Amino acid sequence: MLIAPSILAADFLHLERDVEIVNRHADLFHLDVMDGSFVPNISFGFPVIEAIARVAEKPMDVHLMIVHPEKYVERFAKVGASMISFHYEAALGDSGRVLDLIHGCGAKAGIVLNPDCPVEKVFPYLKEADYVLLMSVFAGFGGQKFIEDTYGRIRTVKAECLRTGSPAQIEIDGGVSPHNAAQLAEAGADILVAGSAVFRAADPAGVIAAMRGSQRM
Ligand code: DX5
Ligand code: ZN
Repeated sequence: MLIAPSILAADFLHLERDVEIVNRHADLFHLDVMDGSFVPNISFGFPVIEAIARVAEKPMDVHLMIVHPEKYVERFAKVGASMISFHYEAALGDSGRVLDLIHGCGAKAGIVLNPDCPVEKVFPYLKEADYVLLMSVFAGFGGQKFIEDTYGRIRTVKAECLRTGSPAQIEIDGGVSPHNAAQLAEAGADILVAGSAVFRAADPAGVIAAMRGSQRM
């Protein structure tokens, strides 16, 4: 199980301190880019990601919550993203082309679905995508409540991957914590994103270790 703390929940006045938590204890940096158009919130962009890249010792996983992801893929790869994901809903039927663009930049490519998007929409892309990011809250804000339907959605995608021999990994994002990590692992999750659970905790390293220890049963 890989743990990807979401920098959206970090303390931006002490960003280097929170970056060090990821460097020392976690597996990936999860970086949420929001444009105020695809989602009703604006987060951060290139300057912040470039700054983190200078000290990051773990790969950067950029989650694009933006319209026209195809316009920005190359720049995110240039500032150091080694995993880039975009929303199926934002690719307007051109998900295959966006996956190709990301691969063309040398990054791993992920396709993201909001909780109300049928999981079958990713089935045609399971051969190409390196990972599928299933949102377990509606994209746009940290600190929301985990949606319980997620377990069934993971099982459906996992079953399709097994049926078709797809090696795509399954990443879960939103309301993830040590309370649901084991059940997510059991359902078939490979990567867990957690913002508030990590950075609002008194012991972030302990929370990361607890989630990472969740094995598939
Ligand atoms: C929500 C973001 C998440 C968010 C997770 O749109 O994609 O990555 O930061 O935050 P928590 O873990 O607090 O739900
Ligand atoms: Zn995210």
